[in-house]
Amino acid sequence: MFQGRSFLKEIDFSKDELLYLIDFAIHLKKLKKEHIQHKYLLDKNIALIFEKTSTRTRAAFTTAAIDLGAHPEFLGPNDIQLGKKESISDTAKVLGTMFDGIEFRGFKQSDVEILAKDSQVPVWNGLTDDWHPTQMLADFMTIKEHFGYLKGLTLAYVGDGRKNVAHSLLVTGAIFGVNVTIISPESLQPAHEIQKLARNYALRTHSKISIRSDLNGLENADIVYTDVWVSMGEESQTAERIKLLKSYQINQKVVDKIINKNFIFMHCLPSFHDLNTEVMKEIKENYNLNELEVTDEVFNSKNSVVFEQAENRMHTIKSVMAATLGDLFIPKV
Ligand code: CP
Ligand code: NVA
Repeated sequence: MFQGRSFLKEIDFSKDELLYLIDFAIHLKKLKKEHIQHKYLLDKNIALIFEKTSTRTRAAFTTAAIDLGAHPEFLGPNDIQLGKKESISDTAKVLGTMFDGIEFRGFKQSDVEILAKDSQVPVWNGLTDDWHPTQMLADFMTIKEHFGYLKGLTLAYVGDGRKNVAHSLLVTGAIFGVNVTIISPESLQPAHEIQKLARNYALRTHSKISIRSDLNGLENADIVYTDVWVSMGEESQTAERIKLLKSYQINQKVVDKIINKNFIFMHCLPSFHDLNTEVMKEIKENYNLNELEVTDEVFNSKNSVVFEQAENRMHTIKSVMAATLGDLFIPKV
């Protein structure tokens, strides 16, 4: 049963439950395209707490809530007392009396855990430093839509392996039986406890997990995934990160080595693939670089599914909110 449950990290749900949420999202996507109403959260109030900035997650939660008949309320870092004048726990107790569900994007995983415990309503993690679970539903939905299946595919993630997206891909891939290769310089590889968690799931699903620092691991990939080199909150480490990751850029020369010519390129976005942002203009000035984690050529190539991925954020967030907060009949999965 999904009702009343929070989604704070991928391992909160079983493999079958995660697959159910993906299939439900595919169904909701169809309903949306055919303009068929699906107001499973009529008159519910949803709080959207954002300590960090967001385009996709905020837009996806907002439009998903409205399509489901709920009322979303954005509570940004300068809007509420959270953290500065009021503890997470007190905030949770207050919001839990007024809202039926809460999305939280912030820094500490422990904060989202406290919010879920003390609000007593379903809480959905919209990204913390450690995990990005709603991103995973969208990503594996996109992979499933593209290939038709998950088990046995090989995903290679290249870049900073110590953050939310890399952690989530590693563990979710292992849960689904997808082989996952993380390619990062040694100092940016996932923590041992995350690797151990993934390997435990991999034993059950026969997924192959590989953590390495050379790009040779890429040739067998069906899916190539990268993320920004500098995550939100780590901006002061830009120089060091560029130095460490410069040779890990996904460019044409790198993807030419991939055997499966129908591989897909994925990125959670936002991405630094051209000079059309303030940040990249500064990078250009300070480091003379035009692109960072991926070149514009690969980002805009026929193999790239980044915008399908972004759209699927909404369908999957809708799926998780409806399943955990709606009064739907969902057979035991
Ligand atoms: N991928 C993602 O979470 O995007 P935003 O930071 O724009 O929400
Ligand atoms: N690792 C990135 C993901 C953004 C969606 C960050 O935390 O900023």
